[in-house]
Amino acid sequence: MSAPHVPRQLFVTTALPYANGHFHIGHIMEYIQADIWVRVQRMQGSHVNFVGADDTHGAPIMIAAEKAGKTPQQFVADIAAGRKPYLDGFHIQFDNWHSTDAPENHELARQIYRDLRDIPLAKGGSLIEVRAVEQFFDPQKNMFLPDRFIKGECPKCHAKDQYGDNCEVCGAVYAPTDLINPFSALSGAKPELKTSEHFFFKLSDPRCIEFLSQWTQDGKLQPEVANKVKEWFSVRSNPDGTTSEGLGDWDISRDAPYFGIEIPDAPGKYFYVWLDAPVGYLASLKNLLDQRGESYDAYMANPALEQIHFIGKDIVTFHTLFWPAMLHFSGRKTPNKVNVHGFLTVNNGEKMSKSRGTGLDPLKYLSLGMNPEWLRYYLAAKLSARNEDIDFNAEDFMTRVNSDLIGKFVNIASRSAGFIAKRFNGTLGTVSADGQALLATLQNATPAIAAFYEEREYAKALREVMLLADKVNAYVDQNKPWDLAKQEGMDARLHDVCTACIEGFRLLSLQLKPVLPALAAQVEAFLHVSPFTFDQAQSLLGAGHSINAYQHLMQRVTPEQLEALFEPPAVVDEKRIPGGEAIAPTISIDDFAKVDLRIAQIVNCEPVEGSVKLLRLTLDVGEGPDAQGRPILRNVFSGIASMYKPEDLIGQLTVLVANLAPRKMKFGVSEGMVLAASHADEKADAGIYVLHPWPGAKPGMRIH
Ligand code: 2FM
Ligand code: ZN
Repeated sequence: MSAPHVPRQLFVTTALPYANGHFHIGHIMEYIQADIWVRVQRMQGSHVNFVGADDTHGAPIMIAAEKAGKTPQQFVADIAAGRKPYLDGFHIQFDNWHSTDAPENHELARQIYRDLRDIPLAKGGSLIEVRAVEQFFDPQKNMFLPDRFIKGECPKCHAKDQYGDNCEVCGAVYAPTDLINPFSALSGAKPELKTSEHFFFKLSDPRCIEFLSQWTQDGKLQPEVANKVKEWFSVRSNPDGTTSEGLGDWDISRDAPYFGIEIPDAPGKYFYVWLDAPVGYLASLKNLLDQRGESYDAYMANPALEQIHFIGKDIVTFHTLFWPAMLHFSGRKTPNKVNVHGFLTVNNGEKMSKSRGTGLDPLKYLSLGMNPEWLRYYLAAKLSARNEDIDFNAEDFMTRVNSDLIGKFVNIASRSAGFIAKRFNGTLGTVSADGQALLATLQNATPAIAAFYEEREYAKALREVMLLADKVNAYVDQNKPWDLAKQEGMDARLHDVCTACIEGFRLLSLQLKPVLPALAAQVEAFLHVSPFTFDQAQSLLGAGHSINAYQHLMQRVTPEQLEALFEPPAVVDEKRIPGGEAIAPTISIDDFAKVDLRIAQIVNCEPVEGSVKLLRLTLDVGEGPDAQGRPILRNVFSGIASMYKPEDLIGQLTVLVANLAPRKMKFGVSEGMVLAASHADEKADAGIYVLHPWPGAKPGMRIH
């Protein structure tokens, strides 16, 4: 037996996803990888806080919000509201999900910055420096343009319409100022070069170099990652094709307008999103501890606390250079491990890039009734501790799930549980020597399996578990309980063999629990035992233990499911779809009754300053009177400005969704929604038409 496991204090994170889109399968893979690891720790008695958050700031999100006609806050809140079905659906159990726009993050980021800025001279002085930077400015939008929003002709191959940082045609890397005939991708205007003061974190300072060259090479990173990082300390290539020695300083500021955190004592300057994003790890943790009434400072001050990050290979620089340097020189704890994984490809296809989450849609997977634990198992069966890409292959997925999980594992229970129930009143018997030897093999292998998980060698762990399942199946095949059941006088042996199978099944379920938590919970209920922990593998249920009736634990994957999963979205003949969009799924009358539609009179209507789309409507829905005896009126914004003059609407009747949750918009709160008809595709330019009841309807009447 191995030495007892010493409980650890762990703070675990996954990379914070940008709040500009829903999760794709690449996110889900990372979360599953981390979730398995966290469950392993908990099964060993360690204490874990596992947190995530939305990465909300930056120019791309600000611009996307504007396009969507929302405030950035509303935009990211809408994305955040869609996270739960993915996380719950795949049994990813974060202890907290927060936002980098939350007050905790504003405070922490600003404090870390102040600590870096105010390092006393005795300790080498400030690590923040202000420098003038020349940058492209969009005179129409009145803002400095991020590289991604400047386009022009490639200076090398003269391809048109290339981005400001690199050419997608010839692959050349350059500065935006090198583009020929540059233009703003936001307004089309010719950008002007303008000087602005930027704040830099002096990563090239000898203190940083000394600290990081050690920090990155002392076992916190996987060897292949540490080797890659080492190269960055020697030579780096500049956008203009020249090379420089060592680490460069990091530009951490952006000018207003920017959705982000304002830099202390620097009005109009904001932290570049990557400065405050990792601080979001701490903010989410702090928010969690505050909710529980625990002290964040005390928690972080615990010398035994281990801080572990799971990230993808594309964001290694931020997590192995900038982040540890920010933490260390601001007097904070640095990460103990940064675990880097590769990308996931689907059916040998393209990598699941953040912007193009094509291939395997996680919500579609769930909506097809596919078991989330199939995916957890399949991904785990391919994951190692190395930073290498893995591929989701549909056929391989079906084979592995059906042959391993159903054929080898679940079948052990389904082949033996019935006899225990029917012939032995649900009670386990005594296992004789051959069964005991088999169970001892399973027990003895458990610490090594736990160690593989611990090292993130999930594929190795599962291979071991399946080899053990093979042994149990060989035992079943040798003893053939179905034959024993028919033979006279073999009851005791039947009881013995089936008991060994159930005991073996319990041990395998325990070993698989980090990967299959929901299935393990069903097994715990079936076997009538407390939640599995790794040390329980050293004991058995024993003769006389009663188990519950067996219910089938898992279905097979079918080819039809996989076909449906990868079936491209139907390309439908536009003309045959009413209004450019198919009729929504059927609802019941009760569903419809939830929507409270009322006749409303437009008592006032005016344009909204700063918006070309919206009109502000003041509506009488028959509510009130208030304390002063006046009708209570509603304020509603409606995107109909392109179609109606405000004065034409005043006095008219229309239809309002009266019980819609009020929505905070950039221009004020909208208390309901006016019904209007439009084509699904805005580009169809078919107009938007406000609903108008027949004369006689009165404000406040309900529409049934
Ligand atoms: O690359 C990304 O998706 C970033 N949003 C990751 C941020 S990780 C952490 F720093 F917040
Ligand atoms: Zn080019």
